[in-house]
Amino acid sequence: MLYLDQIDKARLPKHIAVIMDGNGRWAKLHGKPRVFGHKNGVKAVREVSEAAAEIGIDFLTLYAFSTENWNRPASEVNALMILLINTVKSELKTLNDNSIRLNAIGDLKKLPSRTYDTLMQGIEDTKNNDRMTLTLALNYSARWEMTDAVRRIARDLKAGVLSENDITDDLISQYLSTVNMPDPELLIRTSGEKRISNYLLWQIAYAELYFTDVFWPDFRKEDFYQAIVEFQSRERRFGQISEQL
Ligand code: FPP
Repeated sequence: MLYLDQIDKARLPKHIAVIMDGNGRWAKLHGKPRVFGHKNGVKAVREVSEAAAEIGIDFLTLYAFSTENWNRPASEVNALMILLINTVKSELKTLNDNSIRLNAIGDLKKLPSRTYDTLMQGIEDTKNNDRMTLTLALNYSARWEMTDAVRRIARDLKAGVLSENDITDDLISQYLSTVNMPDPELLIRTSGEKRISNYLLWQIAYAELYFTDVFWPDFRKEDFYQAIVEFQSRERRFGQISEQL
């Protein structure tokens, strides 16, 4: 039986976050340069975005480039930045056809200007779409995000916009780049690595973690549905005991 048919549509996670990993190893396996893996990773981005929109996921957040990824060889970083431009341009029609709104989180101003401009254009051109929000985490890390939030909270305290008693769990969430998004209930990481790698650390406090050995360029709709089936089989207790649920 297909994983798609095993999904209970009434209990879908609203927000799924993904760490797309394994492009480099996939390329090596095929005797190709690492960039070949990233290029083939775009197919998986398309598949998963379509799959998520089709079954009714509201938010899909993909880790596309971390603040640490600048340490990779310049040729790979450049290729990724160009791939991003080309992908946003080539996928614009698919995004609009599926009413998917493009969004981005991270220290975006530090991206190369052409990448930044194309991204902003893509966000502008899809802003009225309302079926699903596809967020790319770009030049993102959770510690950057939290440091930035603390800095802005401190500024607002100093300006008298906030007082110490205003600082609650909810307020902190509003200062993060995921403001107005529900926390992800499911985090998927491909390629067999079992780490969080500085991704959405505040937001995944109660997320179910799902790890698969599949390399990102091979990840397809059924792999995505399998993760949701596994998610639905887990008992989420939020600190309570089974009998209280
Ligand atoms: C991790 O694999 C992947 C990345 C750092 C980049 C992800 C980019 C894409 C999937 C393509 C572009 C995406 C968009 C949204 C346009 P890795 O290179 O760390 O693989 P490895 O662990 O096997 O070396």
